[in-house]
Amino acid sequence: MSELPKINSKFPKRFLWGAATAAHQVEGGNHNQWTIWELENAKTRAAQSDFHIGDYDSWDRIKKQAKDPDNYVSGNLANHYSNYEEDFDLLQKMHMNAYRFSVEWSRIEPIEGAWNAEAIAHYKDYADELKRRSIEPVVTLFHFTLPIWFAEKGGFEKRSNVKYFTRFAKKIVSELGLRVKYIITINEPEVYAMSSYYYQDWPPALHSPYKTWRVINNLALAHKQSARAIHSLNRRYKVSIAKSSAYFYPGDNAWISRVSASVMQYFQDDYIIKKFIQHCDFLGVNYYLSNRVYGYRIHNPEDHLSDLNWAMAPGDIQYILERLYGKYKIPIIITENGLADDQDINRKWWITQTIVGMQNAIKKGVELEGYLHWSLLDNFEWAYGKWPRFGLAEVDYATGKRSLRQSARWFGGVIKKLREL
Ligand code: BGC
Repeated sequence: MSELPKINSKFPKRFLWGAATAAHQVEGGNHNQWTIWELENAKTRAAQSDFHIGDYDSWDRIKKQAKDPDNYVSGNLANHYSNYEEDFDLLQKMHMNAYRFSVEWSRIEPIEGAWNAEAIAHYKDYADELKRRSIEPVVTLFHFTLPIWFAEKGGFEKRSNVKYFTRFAKKIVSELGLRVKYIITINEPEVYAMSSYYYQDWPPALHSPYKTWRVINNLALAHKQSARAIHSLNRRYKVSIAKSSAYFYPGDNAWISRVSASVMQYFQDDYIIKKFIQHCDFLGVNYYLSNRVYGYRIHNPEDHLSDLNWAMAPGDIQYILERLYGKYKIPIIITENGLADDQDINRKWWITQTIVGMQNAIKKGVELEGYLHWSLLDNFEWAYGKWPRFGLAEVDYATGKRSLRQSARWFGGVIKKLREL
């Protein structure tokens, strides 16, 4: 690996440096539409693992876990629901001043129309504990999991169901009150719709282009209605979605590669963002990978891959930032960014390239307000289960013990310096 570039320029004064998680991926003990699907599908996922991921570079290291059905059942995980104070101490150790998490709708409204006072009190205390540590909460309302009653009604497939989400959004934000300011209504709307209604990877595992399209549009409506409801409580709330974005670039100079790359970029970003942006105060962006386009196909380099076999190109975050800011002209927060790296060999390099990319974008005038690394903890990586290790902190699932990885301790030192500049 080439020498690491210098991290030296100033970030805006109130820049948010932090990490992110989502309820179902770290809390443990949830009971939602994913829990049921995991139990029904664990054996099949395990049996089909060679077929799905047997060609990954990491396969030899991870195959034992990937072939074990238990890998696909979230269970107690890191038990963050009980251990959040210990986990917030980790944020402090890394000198972070922001944290993104999601509230679990199925805990707050386990039965239609019945609010669970205990769960609401939990999330209030959760936000208070962050505030006590001078850490800015960034709260997500929908991060892929649904109460069972809502999924049984057809979830976001039905336009008439959107009102239930809006009611939940209004309820939880009014309960959290001014403990929070940044609110992500929906995490990665089109990733959810495609994985659940097209690729059959996530519940309800359907293959219907029509339903995929309908879910995206209903999520746009859910965002609009909940953003309005939240702003009617207080105009001071800063609302957005978290948009997943990849950078598409031509692999050669052929016109077809160039045109395809920009058409793909348009459909991935603008086609979706246009449905949401009118009701966003900032744009949350999740960036993980780039795609190299030859002709009309994606063919990525195969020599520098993460444990999930994603082509690593962290510095390209600069181009994503410049493009999105150039088009939408509203402040951006990186709401997720990171890599599966169980041996912690690429994370330091990744974070360095990312910081340099962000510095360059800021120098070019992009209003970037924060960076939230995915993830604070090792967690449940949806259909892949527990083997991918995204955490700044390693979690021993058998004992619950957390330890900051070496790259995380280094990152903490960098954040400290950058915040002092
Ligand atoms: C999701 C996270 C997920 C991460 C890594 C994002 O698409 O919001 O829940 O763990 O990517 O795959």
